[in-house]
Amino acid sequence: MIDIDEWTITSAALKAQGGTANTRLKTVMDSLVRHLHEFAREVQLTEAEWAHGIDFLTRAGKITDDKRQEFILLSDVLGLSSLVTAQCNRRPTGCTEATVFGPFYVANAPKYDNGDDIANGASGEPCFVAGTIRGIDGEPIANAEIDVWQSDDEGNYDVQRPELAQAQGRGRLSSLEDGRYGFRSIVAVPYPIPHDGPVGQLLEKLGRHPWRPAHLHFMIRAPGYETLITHVFRSGGTYLDSDAVFGVRSSLIADWKRHEAGLAPDGTCMEEPFYTLDYDFVLNKAAKDYTLLPPSR
Ligand code: BEZ
Ligand code: FE
Repeated sequence: MIDIDEWTITSAALKAQGGTANTRLKTVMDSLVRHLHEFAREVQLTEAEWAHGIDFLTRAGKITDDKRQEFILLSDVLGLSSLVTAQCNRRPTGCTEATVFGPFYVANAPKYDNGDDIANGASGEPCFVAGTIRGIDGEPIANAEIDVWQSDDEGNYDVQRPELAQAQGRGRLSSLEDGRYGFRSIVAVPYPIPHDGPVGQLLEKLGRHPWRPAHLHFMIRAPGYETLITHVFRSGGTYLDSDAVFGVRSSLIADWKRHEAGLAPDGTCMEEPFYTLDYDFVLNKAAKDYTLLPPSR
């Protein structure tokens, strides 16, 4: 492989990795090399721009640790996370749509009983969330594990507040025999994704804001069903049509109803106004016959 030029480099690079034993890895890497080279040719990438890109990725690497993942953030703001989520979660009509995972999930969150307050001290207006978990055929799903996580009213998740000794605004519940679930928490608010690093600087240069519309995160798991990772968004709020990470689906937008002080759904006598959110989830069966083919174009 000598005398490589700007045109023959692509076949030379593909030939060099021709011995890749893992066929999926070969498919992915061959395509990546072809697209990367085509990108560089299309924009006539300069050496200074190449160095700038390397510096950007280096800074992203340096700011990444076990609490901060700048590369996922980059994937999110470029729409790659949303694209991968969409193409990996094609489900029959009637199933709850999936959306991006985000970086603030924590495994093994505290377990709560239905009716408990998962805010656990997080600041915000009180909100009572309830609904039912069903399968695509309408059957209630008992004992589904429901992971929920959200920010406080300043837009911070508990993991962004190292001074906190315990989880706030997150927890795990099990659906009841009839598929119902319910918990108390706080009203979701819009918040900016972390934008004090290279991804934030990129957004600024692209003339974009870092905000996400108000939402609650859910992950719902039950044996025999596909795991659902999704959000419920608050209707009428800001940024619904300009989410920094392209996560909004209209089927996931719901009303948070405001109530004056008085009796809450769980029987508590509330001395301040409160909100209620009712949202039902529909899970797909984890059977092969429910697997959908990509839509034809
Ligand atoms: C979130 O909703 O938690 C989130 C999603 C993507 C990037 C940053 C935050
Ligand atoms: Fe979030």
